[in-house]
Amino acid sequence: MLDSLFTENIEDILDQIDEGIHIVDAKGRIIYYNKFASDLDNINPEEAIGRHILEIYPSLTPETSTILKVIKTGKPILNNQQTFKNYRGLEITTINATVPIKSGRKIIGAVEVSKDITEVKKLSEKLVDLQAELLIDHNKKIKQAEGMRAVYTFADIIGISDLMLKLKKDALSVSASPSPVMIYGDTGTGKELLVHAIHNASTRRNKPFIAQNCAALPETLLESILFGTVKGSFTGAETRPGLFELANEGTLFLDEINSMPLQLQAKLLRVIQDGNVRRIGDTKVTHVDVRIMTAINIDPRQALADKCIRDDLFYRLSVISLKMPALKERYEDVPVLLKHFIDKYSTLLGKNVKGISSEVEAFFMSYAWPGNVRELEHAVEGAMNMADGTLITDSHLPYYLADISKKDKRRIQKNAIGPLNHTISKVEHLIIKKALRLTEGNITKAAELLEVPRQTLQYKIAKYNINVDAEK
Ligand SMILES: Nc1ncnc2c1ncn2[C@@H]1O[C@H](COP(=O)(O)OP(=O)(O)OP(=O)(O)O)[C@@H](O)[C@H]1O
Ligand SMILES: [Mg+2]
Repeated sequence: MLDSLFTENIEDILDQIDEGIHIVDAKGRIIYYNKFASDLDNINPEEAIGRHILEIYPSLTPETSTILKVIKTGKPILNNQQTFKNYRGLEITTINATVPIKSGRKIIGAVEVSKDITEVKKLSEKLVDLQAELLIDHNKKIKQAEGMRAVYTFADIIGISDLMLKLKKDALSVSASPSPVMIYGDTGTGKELLVHAIHNASTRRNKPFIAQNCAALPETLLESILFGTVKGSFTGAETRPGLFELANEGTLFLDEINSMPLQLQAKLLRVIQDGNVRRIGDTKVTHVDVRIMTAINIDPRQALADKCIRDDLFYRLSVISLKMPALKERYEDVPVLLKHFIDKYSTLLGKNVKGISSEVEAFFMSYAWPGNVRELEHAVEGAMNMADGTLITDSHLPYYLADISKKDKRRIQKNAIGPLNHTISKVEHLIIKKALRLTEGNITKAAELLEVPRQTLQYKIAKYNINVDAEK
């Protein structure tokens, strides 16, 4: 009784299940399809029943069809994930369990139960994407937080030379102004340090400070980073503000401005002139109040001549022009910088270095420092890693500096030697003066002391133009 109730109603029962059910016979012909399966596959059961499975699913082959495989092998295939396109062209992903139907030992067919995981898959992928985005956003926020703060002040700029004292004084006096500042200086002279210090001495100190290197990004990316984008303005574009908007009320530092492509320089000029920023692909503009500071590491006159920077932009940006002097123009700063870096790295490296040997000092005071303060700092850091006592000596210097130092020393020694007759004359001159001093200017007694004839001494006194009276 129960048995017939079940068989009579089995189709209705199976149609209530939220899983697709296909049943095929031993020849691979479809003999049953439940409602869920027909919805999933977008196939009308009336059309499918009685037809071969490969006819209904042309994308399948005898090798890829789990049903045909199970009929062939008699072994169940469980937890098998499949992605296919249904007749509506939708991509469907299912997890299937395919088991053989046997009559005794004979395989008479197979049943496949498919769980639709299309939505779950989509959602989990989205979750992964969101997590990745969150991570990127999080990193961006940290980066931005770092990049949005100016950390150095004028106190961090070490230097006692007249050049540096004047520069600091000038920079301090223009700090409060909203006028653009352009800093020119060789690599490693401390341009970035100065920009930070100016921002921190200005009324904008609690507002954003954003630095962007113009040489670091390709033109289109730099443009969208600076001005922002709206979704759909180009493939993959999202709605996000640019650095101009982020730096509102603060300072935007554009480093290596001479590396910015000329076309972008024209766009930059427009934004600076009226303070209106339009995100790429947007119709509306936002007014911003941003102080622009720029750095340029080649001579601005050269940059203009080489057309690395547009004239109009240059004049606009260099309203206040400051020059960071090279280290070789201010050797007076070397000892104070040395002390500063020795103290810094003693703490950092846990060393007890107190100073440098006189040879190293002589070398540091004559070396050209092409990498400027950065090179000096790293030379000290490198030497301090090597140093085991309280003094930095030649042997602690990085090899390239040690080599130059050795050559330098030889050169100095060579200069000190000079031609032999010249040296002999110098010594002779000194000894004659000494003898005259000892004999209170008495030429006869001096000649005796020197064991030379009086006449010879007189001749040499005349030759060296010695004032006998002055030696009395
Ligand atoms: N006067 C100074 N006092 C202390 N440290 C300095 C000074 N000048 C430069 N430095 C240090 O030297 C390094 C280089 O300085 P900075 O990055 O400001 O140079 P830069 O001119 O911007 O160089 P680049 O053109 O290569 O970007 C930094 O570590 C900085 O702290
Ligand atoms: Mg720099």
